[in-house]
Formats: sequence, structure tokens, C-alpha cells
Amino acid sequence: MKDMAMAVEALARKVMNHRVFDHPMYRHWACAPLPAAQSAALFHQLQNFCASTRLGMAFPQGLRNMGLPRQAELMSEIEVSEGGHGPDLARMAGHIVNLTGKERVFDDLDDQAEVEAGLKRYSDQLLGDLPGYDRASGLTRQAREAIAVFQQRSRADPESTIRNLGIAFALELISNRSLIPGEKRALVDSGHYGVSLKDPEMYYLLDHWGECGAEQQHELNVRQAIAGVLNAETEPLVLSGIDAFLDALAALWDVIDSQLLPAEAAV
Ligand SMILES: [Fe+2]
Ligand SMILES: [Fe+2]
Repeated sequence: MKDMAMAVEALARKVMNHRVFDHPMYRHWACAPLPAAQSAALFHQLQNFCASTRLGMAFPQGLRNMGLPRQAELMSEIEVSEGGHGPDLARMAGHIVNLTGKERVFDDLDDQAEVEAGLKRYSDQLLGDLPGYDRASGLTRQAREAIAVFQQRSRADPESTIRNLGIAFALELISNRSLIPGEKRALVDSGHYGVSLKDPEMYYLLDHWGECGAEQQHELNVRQAIAGVLNAETEPLVLSGIDAFLDALAALWDVIDSQLLPAEAAV
């Protein structure tokens, strides 16, 4: 039991030692108020990536097929808890864009489709000429590659399923300890936008952040799930899932950082 706890801890350390964990984009995002267009383009890439991580697809079934019903339950709990997060994220993104623009861009923050279409328009303007940018989805090559990591959940074979468990493990640790805190630092703690976690438009962050936040619970779920399956046979697959996710997210942060955020010199 003690050995298993140590093995899970070693995996967690691997995630936290990856360059994506403390990526400079978090610092650059927080260092100055971001103009409306840049905020919108960033949120477009981010919200599409986040949306791709919410669906369980065949992943829980794959776990059940392997005789891992508890793991399936833990993953399904995460999926259920993601309900409503799309509209919440769109509302927060639209609110931040409204606050930084010369004029209000979005009249109705509850109109998720309208907000998301607006975010994409800015993304097309600012990022559309990048190599590999897809005009139809408005996604950078890097965002599409990060999303592709989660589309592997459409496969329920044992190898993909264990790999998907590694991906989920890394995702939830990054969400809880790096992405959500980084977002809070940039949007709330920086004071650049005059918003607080208590503002109704910022509910997405309130819901995700901190000891009682959704991501804390997700991290507990993936830690418990992985502890039940880690052995000499599964570990290489778990590690390959962890690496695939971390490398893909680092590449997405690189392009967001270099194309949309102020450089270090401007800090
Ligand atoms: Fe969420
Ligand atoms: Fe999560």
C-alpha cells in the first residue's frame, strides 16, 4: 500500500516537473491587462481545448471491459461534474473581453454560441496566418493536437484505456495545480480587470478553484483510479499518456505565449 502511494506520488512529481507546469505563459498573461482581441483569441483556443477534455466517450466503458468498474465510476463522476462548464467558461471569457474592449463586445453573456463565435472571429484575425491554422474551427495546429490526445477516448481497447488513464491523471493534476491557479492569477489576483471570484460572471473560476473546487475532487478521483491499476505492465502505457498530454499542452502554451501575450521585456 505504501509502495503504491509512493508510485502515484512519483507520477505526480513527473507531471509537476514538466516544463508546462510552470510555463512562462502564466506569468505573461498576468503581467498586464490583455487587450480584448488577444483575450478573445486566447479564450477561443483554451475553451476548445477544455471542451475536448470533458467528454468521457468510450473511456469508462473501456475500463469496465477490463474489469475495472471502480475506475469507470471515478472517471464518470468527473464527466458528470463537468456539466454546465461550457456555458460558464464562455460567460467568463465574454465578460473579460467586454471589460477590456473599447466597447462592449457581447450583449448577452448567457448566449454561449454567440460568445464562442465572437471569440473565434478574433482568433481568426490574430492567429489565422499561422502555419496549420484551421479556418473552419479557428484552431491552431497545436490546439488541434492537444484536442486529438482526448479524442483517443473514442477507443475502448485495453492499451488505449490505460493510456487514457495516464492522460486523465496528468490533465487533472495540471488543471488543479497549474491551469486554474494560473487563470485565477491572471484574471483575478492581478487586479487588471477589476473582477472578483464572487462576481457571477466569474463563477467558472470559483467553481473550479481551491480546496472545495471541482479540480481538487477530480485530482482525488484520478489518484485513486491510477492507484488501482499501476503495475509493471501498465506503467509504460500510463507514462506514455502522461507525456503525450503534457507535451501537447506545452506546445499549445508556447504558441499562445509567443503570439498573444506580452514578452518578458515588457514586464
Ligand atoms: Fe470544468
Ligand atoms: Fe478537471
